[in-house]
Amino acid sequence: KRVAILISGRGSNMSALIEAAKAPDYPAEIVAVIANKADAAGLDVARANGIPAFAIPHRDFASKPEHENAVSQALHAEKTDIVCLAGYMRIISPEFVSAWEGKMLNIHPSLLPLFKGLHTHEQVLEAGMRVHGCTVHFVTAGMDEGPIITQTAISVNIGDTPDTLAERVLSVEHETYVRALALVASGKAVMKNGRTVFRD
Ligand code: GRF
Repeated sequence: KRVAILISGRGSNMSALIEAAKAPDYPAEIVAVIANKADAAGLDVARANGIPAFAIPHRDFASKPEHENAVSQALHAEKTDIVCLAGYMRIISPEFVSAWEGKMLNIHPSLLPLFKGLHTHEQVLEAGMRVHGCTVHFVTAGMDEGPIITQTAISVNIGDTPDTLAERVLSVEHETYVRALALVASGKAVMKNGRTVFRD
C-alpha cells in the first residue's frame, strides 16, 4: 500500500514509519510527506530518505478548502492509498475526512477516549491518572474520536511532569504507529460501520 504522511513539525513518528517501511515484508511503502509549514524539520528527513516531500503551507491559501484541495492533489499525484497524520496540527474538514474515511490514521498522545484535544499530559496529571499512553485511530469528523486501531499504555511515575510524560509517551508512539499502519495496510484492520474490525 502507498502511504503519504502529513506533518507539521519534527516528524519523529514519520521517521519511525519511514524506517519500518524499509523492511521488505512491511506491507506499506512511504511515497510522500506533506507539511503544512515550509520549515517543518521532517521535510528534510523525508528528502534524506529519498521520499518526495512537499511543503504546502496553509497560510499560502485563502481558505481551508483551497489548502485541502492542494493537499488532495499531491496525495492523488502520488497515488496514495493511506494517509497517516503524524503531528499534523490542522483540523481537517469533514469533506476531506469523508473522502479518506477508513484510509486515514492519526496518532494521539492519550489513551482515547480519555483526554481528547491538546495538553493531554497536563490533563493526565490533573486527573491523577496512574496510567497514560497513546492511541492510533481511524480519522473521523469528530476530533480524536475515530475507531481505535492500536494503543500502548505506560505508567505515570511519581514526580512525572508533562515533559517527562511527553517524552515517555513519544517513545512508545513510534512502535504503536508502526503496528497500526501494518494492520491497516495488510487489511488485518478495517473500518466498518464506524468501528475497527480485526481479521486475520
Ligand atoms: C506527538 O506527540 C503526537 O502524539 C502528536 O504530536 C506529536 C507529533 O510528534 N500528534 P512528531 O512530529 O511525530 O515527532
